[in-house]
Amino acid sequence: MKLPAISIVVCVLFILHAACSVESRRSFRSWEYTSIFAFGDSFADVGNTPGKSHGPVSRAWYYPYGESVTTGRAKATGRFSDDKVQSDFLAKTILGLHEAPPAYNRVGFHLYLNGVTFATGGAGVFQVPAANVTTIGQQVDSFERLLKKGTISRSRLRYSVFLVAVSGNDYEPAISNEMLAAKVTDEIVAIVNRLRKLGAKKILVNNMHPLGCAPRRARYGNTGNYTGCDQHGNAIASVHNNLLEQKLANTNDTVLVLDINTAFTKIINGSYGSDQFTNRLRPCCEATDPKGYCGRGDNAGVLEFNFKLDMDHVNSYFYWDEMNPTNAGWKAVMKQLERTIKDFLSTDH
Ligand SMILES: *[C@@H]1O[C@H](CO)[C@@H](O)[C@H](O)[C@H]1NC(C)=O
Ligand SMILES: *[C@@H]1O[C@H](CO)[C@@H](O)[C@H](O)[C@H]1NC(C)=O
Ligand SMILES: *[C@@H]1O[C@H](CO)[C@@H](O)[C@H](O)[C@H]1NC(C)=O
Ligand SMILES: *[C@@H]1O[C@H](CO)[C@@H](O)[C@H](O)[C@H]1NC(C)=O
Repeated sequence: MKLPAISIVVCVLFILHAACSVESRRSFRSWEYTSIFAFGDSFADVGNTPGKSHGPVSRAWYYPYGESVTTGRAKATGRFSDDKVQSDFLAKTILGLHEAPPAYNRVGFHLYLNGVTFATGGAGVFQVPAANVTTIGQQVDSFERLLKKGTISRSRLRYSVFLVAVSGNDYEPAISNEMLAAKVTDEIVAIVNRLRKLGAKKILVNNMHPLGCAPRRARYGNTGNYTGCDQHGNAIASVHNNLLEQKLANTNDTVLVLDINTAFTKIINGSYGSDQFTNRLRPCCEATDPKGYCGRGDNAGVLEFNFKLDMDHVNSYFYWDEMNPTNAGWKAVMKQLERTIKDFLSTDH
């Protein structure tokens, strides 16, 4: 619930601000947006993966995922981080929502007052065989069903922010070639156009983070042992980003391509937050076995972990596991994008 008295005070402040400002663009008004609908993979997953085993996709339900969480009953919440992920920072820090959108698979009957996230760790625009989770198109199918049933009313869509977080599962395991980037970006554009047809007015679309810097590439890449990024992985991300920018250029009233690539790169190359992030490629939770992964444990109940963890210094790490940023990492990425997002959400819709 928003407090009306505070809203009025803030409103007066904004009117004064607008009157004094020479800018034609008005200020961001946080109360205009009440919901987020998120689609994608681990960057925006807040608990959609099944939690049955310690498999690569389900591990976010087990130690050490969520180790920085201090509130609530369970630490691991199905997020691929030590605490929060991208959609949480978008909701709470940037939009100022009371609650971040919950996971679609975890809520029963629900009015989705703050929206909902369909994003699922391991998902791609195409079916990713290793993960066996919903594709991002299937996530949009679920959203469309809620609209058709009236669970989410169409009149709410103009007060909603959409997030499409595609982080490269389609390019794994081999990172693949440029031809694939053409197909992946076509699919992202198709997803965005579907959301626009369904009534979305403000859609944030992540560009591709530097794939070659993700610890799983930096560990074995060009120079190895986290001493540099894998150039081939970064080249694919560049091809992807150029194509995405071109293909979405004519939809810039409803679509903002979020340049997470630059935000990640600045942290990794030390030009942003270097006082804090002294570990920029090596993950806080690192597999000790080359075939292992963070969170891998023995399913038989014997706690025998194939990873090492440096929780004492978690805030100095940009990456949490071999692909995903830490809570501190996401905070620093979203801080860099906050102004751009607020400017975009301030234009008429
Ligand atoms: C894939 O997921 C579906 C639905 O969760 C499940 O029924 C099926 O058994 C899974 N297939 C494999 C190969 O794990
Ligand atoms: C990798 O780097 C770490 C710390 O920088 C060092 O302790 C370790 O010996 C290195 N491993 C190899 C295989 O070079
Ligand atoms: C969209 O792009 C056009 C042409 O590049 C530009 O004039 C306009 O300001 C852009 N709109 C927004 C909302 O950024
Ligand atoms: C770091 O990366 C950013 C974004 O790509 C770039 O603009 C900047 O020049 C780089 N800085 C250094 C020191 O390499």
